[in-house]
Amino acid sequence: MSENRSATFGLDGLSRQFPVLEGTIGPDVVDMRALSQKTGVFSFDPGLGSTATCTSAISYIDGDKGVLLHRGYPIEDLALNASFTETAYLLLYGELPTAAQYQAFRTDMNTHRLLNEQIRNFFNGFRRDAHPMAILCGTVGALSAFYHDGLDISEPKARDLSARRLIAKVPTIAAWAYKYSIGEPFIYPDEEMSFSENFLHMLFARPGNHYRVNPVLARAMDRILLLHADHEQNASTTTVRLVGSTGANPYACIAAGIAALWGPAHGGANEAALGMLETIGTRDGIPAFLNEVKNRNSGVRLMGFGHRVYKNFDPRAKILQATCHEVIEELGLKRDPLLDLAMELERVATEDDYFVSRRLYPNVDFYSGLILKALGIPKSMFTVLFAVARTVGWVSQWKEMIEEPSVRISRPRQLYIGAAERNFVPMSERR
Ligand code: CMC
Repeated sequence: MSENRSATFGLDGLSRQFPVLEGTIGPDVVDMRALSQKTGVFSFDPGLGSTATCTSAISYIDGDKGVLLHRGYPIEDLALNASFTETAYLLLYGELPTAAQYQAFRTDMNTHRLLNEQIRNFFNGFRRDAHPMAILCGTVGALSAFYHDGLDISEPKARDLSARRLIAKVPTIAAWAYKYSIGEPFIYPDEEMSFSENFLHMLFARPGNHYRVNPVLARAMDRILLLHADHEQNASTTTVRLVGSTGANPYACIAAGIAALWGPAHGGANEAALGMLETIGTRDGIPAFLNEVKNRNSGVRLMGFGHRVYKNFDPRAKILQATCHEVIEELGLKRDPLLDLAMELERVATEDDYFVSRRLYPNVDFYSGLILKALGIPKSMFTVLFAVARTVGWVSQWKEMIEEPSVRISRPRQLYIGAAERNFVPMSERR
């Protein structure tokens, strides 16, 4: 990060200089930390659209060019050449692993997949029809009650241990949340399998019914996870950093990230996108649905479209579109009616002036739901899968934040628009 120029901010005839910070790539950032101290005013930026809240060396997005880099590597290269576990190593430690580093990391991570047996008891406390995100959020937060040796966040070894445990154990909790919801026995993790093979195994194997993991489907799952691993300072990552800035333990921070991801504008969008396709039903339903979307009073959005940062295309959506076709072919679903509908909807919307003028394009969630459905994963599990993947990004960003010497508790200010100070009125005198 370099700092050679300054920006001038003027107010009531007084001007003040603020340093301009230059990152490796991307727009310059004006360092406004001293704004209130120098001028007595605050900046107003709800949604944080113009505000950088941290420095980070993990991922980078160029929304206009449709570029996503992980530690400098384009997401397309990683999706084609690396595994999810390799990408996890890259995000956590900054470099691609050598063969020996990868083997050691993989072996260690696989041993962390198992949950303390007491954690099984948690599941019985939930209703069978509980949303798996509720189970995931609660159980991940509860991990801090079990793994005390990872809680001293001032210790680098403890931080690393917690980071690895979270990446390895969240899939087990996720798969067990699913098994619980369908009344099937929990399947214990298999240390010999890859991350994605083991995840599919825990979701679909049953005692007495040998489940063979299809390599094409495991690869598709791995790709979905890899594409969701990190994404700059999105809402859930910002939540993890904010909670982490208070010194909260990593399990609590990741549980908070899971809660933030749950919303339909963020991680819930793939579930909502598939639900939308099911509601539209057939190609004939597309015009009426798009008219509803364009009616500003309807509150209906085209789910799986639009992005706060990508304004031309989402590179992850392109990769998933191809993966979606691979999966449909492998499963012999040559003509999947929902896929046909999705492709037609994409074609019509990307030629429609409403979406073109607002620069709304399919995002990663437009296709991920279709792939997950083809893999036999129910809609209620879609956001859970996103959480399994994003745990890698969350823990990497949490570690980066804790290791930043100048980290301060996040404490935004506000523009107060409530009543000015007034006198208390006793109840007997109130009207
Ligand atoms: N359908 C219809 N209109 C839309 C949509 C949409 N999906 N997204 C944005 N718009 C319109 C919006 O109404 C506004 O129109 P106008 O200028 O007339 O007021 C304009 O486009 C700009 O929208 P915005 O709300 O300012 O955009 P934003 O950056 O705040 O919202 C978003 C980004 C992702 C929340 C939004 O595009 C959206 O709700 N999309 C659908 C949900 C979705 O697919 N979310 C997954 C995002 S990708 C996963 C991830 O990376 O986390």
